[in-house]
Amino acid sequence: MTIHTITTAPFAGQRPGTSGLRKKVAEFQQPGYLENFVQAIFNTLVDCTGQTLVVGGDGRYFNRQAIQVILRMAAAHGIGKVLVGQGGILSTPALSCVVRKHGAFGGIVLSASHNPGGPHGDFGIKYNTSNGGPAPERITEAIYSNTLAVEAYDISDEGEVDLDRPGIVRIEQMEVEVIDPVADYAQLMQELFDFDAIRTLFASGFRMCFDGMGAVSGPYARTIIEGMLGAPAGTVINGIPLEDFGGHHPDPNPVNAAELIALMAATNAPDFGAASDGDADRNMIVGRGIAVTPSDSLAIIAANARVAPGYRVGIVGIARSMPTSTAADRVALALGVPCYETPTGWKYFGNLLDAGMVTLCGEESYGTGSDHIREKDGVWAVLFWLNLIAASGKPVETIVRDHWARFGRNYYSRHDYEAVDALAATSMMTHLRAKLASLAGKPIGSYTVDFADDFIYADPVDRSVASHQGVRIVMTDGSRIVFRLSGTGTEGATVRLYLERYEVDSSNHAIPAQEALAELAAIADSVAGLRVHTGRDGPTVIT
Ligand code: G6P
Ligand code: ZN
Repeated sequence: MTIHTITTAPFAGQRPGTSGLRKKVAEFQQPGYLENFVQAIFNTLVDCTGQTLVVGGDGRYFNRQAIQVILRMAAAHGIGKVLVGQGGILSTPALSCVVRKHGAFGGIVLSASHNPGGPHGDFGIKYNTSNGGPAPERITEAIYSNTLAVEAYDISDEGEVDLDRPGIVRIEQMEVEVIDPVADYAQLMQELFDFDAIRTLFASGFRMCFDGMGAVSGPYARTIIEGMLGAPAGTVINGIPLEDFGGHHPDPNPVNAAELIALMAATNAPDFGAASDGDADRNMIVGRGIAVTPSDSLAIIAANARVAPGYRVGIVGIARSMPTSTAADRVALALGVPCYETPTGWKYFGNLLDAGMVTLCGEESYGTGSDHIREKDGVWAVLFWLNLIAASGKPVETIVRDHWARFGRNYYSRHDYEAVDALAATSMMTHLRAKLASLAGKPIGSYTVDFADDFIYADPVDRSVASHQGVRIVMTDGSRIVFRLSGTGTEGATVRLYLERYEVDSSNHAIPAQEALAELAAIADSVAGLRVHTGRDGPTVIT
């Protein structure tokens, strides 16, 4: 068969965001759009001839077509071998695991994560490097520059690979191996967690509901939780990956997973509830009548890491994104290990993990993970909680309340103003930035501002600097108001307001979060002119 060089012209706007290039499916379906971006990836990679790549996605609409294009382009660029998940399926954490285990050169993840799927939904593509993690900014920026300069792409004209049949086939000189998407990942989980203890827990009648939200975590949860751990069939709901996620918005938070939250509040609720997102890297943990905030979950995992065999020796450090609550910082202090504060985006954890400076990482956006791979990992977090419940014999709510009693409670909430006019959102941020210098030392309501700045991160490993990573207004009691524009949306701009208040006194730990944070929300609005700029009366989503 023949390799063709096809003339093309650049498309505007192919700059990867917080997590890869995400656009509406229709945009990706334009002739040459995907090809240009993939060509830009290959133009950025040097020395990839003869190397192994891993390719897979969350099964959303356009996943299979995109994989066929990528395979034919990889063959045209002299890639030696591609490992592709059967059915085109690989969760983001499983891809990271496969890249590391097989010593691959890199991987291509096809996902728009938690963004809706289907023909009218979103699609996404992201390049991961040989450590199994998202490419750092210098690489994503180089890819972007290459999209602006691309004049032609190379592609083989060979036929489609049967993605459903396991085994090895060839395109040109390149080997394509269709692999079991779950096996390597499941084996890694078995090494990290006490599967015997969790099996005993399920055997004793412990009931759980895992909501796969019609996305890619289903096959992983079914194999591991129902299969290897012996949970009854039906423990995993919405467990088959569908091209449109069955109409679900596969973003595990109390708003989108309302069905699970209602189930967990019912009188006959299971003991434990969990959900994961489109590509299975996010997680939500729910107990009977209590949803655990991701920030608390990170802190609780850190405080109890030693219960899991993979972390028996203890943790060396924690990293959290700047808007994530400081609950983990308190645990780090108690353990005598460092806690790093990074910009939003899992890619910023990569250097710290590679350098062995941290074991655990987490973000407020329902992402938690560890140094076992280089992506956040939804099923991993769920298994950690199962291990913790099995080891402690305590229900989720008791685990959380005991944690607050020991470390204090960081009340936390995120208010999202979605699909706001992009100019209005940037102008709000510009006005806010201009005010920051005047805020320090100023009393506002019952708070006094300690400092206010626009977060800058200097990576302690490679010294790279990321600026404009979010405005934070920090009060003298440690309470915080943080403003950021989302880097993952595909419609207008999304303003995120993060609110945090620390309360040490356990007699004050039962206040509803929105009530506890109401004054900070009002201050945020008055300082930033949120309602005036966005033209909205309130947030579209509160989590
Ligand atoms: C993705 C990234 C995360 C990030 C989240 C929210 O899931 O992998 O690292 O925290 O998006 O990003 P955003 O820019 O929308 O707040
Ligand atoms: Zn995701």
